[in-house]
Amino acid sequence: MAIATAHRKSLIAADNHILHRLHSFSGIVPVGIFLVQHLTLNSFALAGAEHFNAVIDFFNKQMPRHILHVLEWGLIFIPILYHALYGLIITAHGQVNVGRYGYWRNWMYLWQRITGMILVVYIAVHVWGTTISHRLFGTNIHYDGMVAYFQNPWVVAFYLLGITSATFHLSNGIWNFCIRWGITIGERAQQACAKVCAVIFVLLTALGWSALFAFR
Ligand code: HEM
Repeated sequence: MAIATAHRKSLIAADNHILHRLHSFSGIVPVGIFLVQHLTLNSFALAGAEHFNAVIDFFNKQMPRHILHVLEWGLIFIPILYHALYGLIITAHGQVNVGRYGYWRNWMYLWQRITGMILVVYIAVHVWGTTISHRLFGTNIHYDGMVAYFQNPWVVAFYLLGITSATFHLSNGIWNFCIRWGITIGERAQQACAKVCAVIFVLLTALGWSALFAFR
């Protein structure tokens, strides 16, 4: 109980700033929701090339350009940029307690920051290799283009790391979010929430990896 309360107090102490609250909220809405949606649509690759290509064509050919751009900038690019930039500031100012306390919560705190930094690199490479290079150079991002892209085992390893970092970061982030916003207050509620978040992590990781292996 004492640990749960101390953890909650330390999270809330960092919370007074409106920008910090906005960072926390943006991790779930819209960035977290987008991640779940993105992994789900990618997993259509499991049903075959036709289904995956239908998703790609819906966004690139059927959806009106101006709506696509408003959704991309408003719900994806600007919120992720904000979350990432403010996340880097939090990371730069944070203290690592692992050596001092060794509690698994401190390890989770550290891994939240490590996966955040991996995601900065991963998201930049991923968006450059798909959306940006498709629009600038006409790179093929249909099913056969993805199959060719994932022939390189280093690319697959990089994606496995990036997807797992994202699913860990979101699952552990939901656990933190619930404490920060007063949803889980006592030790038992936080432990129950940890179990739910562990299940979310396994399910989301399976969803993300399944899409990747559909191209192999
Ligand atoms: C797939 C993209 C991402 C998703 C879905 C995501 C989601 C989340 C969520 C839900 C939280 C918990 C909010 C809270 O503590 O109340 C969080 C926290 C955090 N995120 Fe992200 N995030 C993403 C990318 C990033 C990136 C690129 C960084 C860059 C470093 C980052 C840095 C952080 C940090 C440092 C925290 C902890 C904040 C704290 O403890 O006060 N995140 N994220």
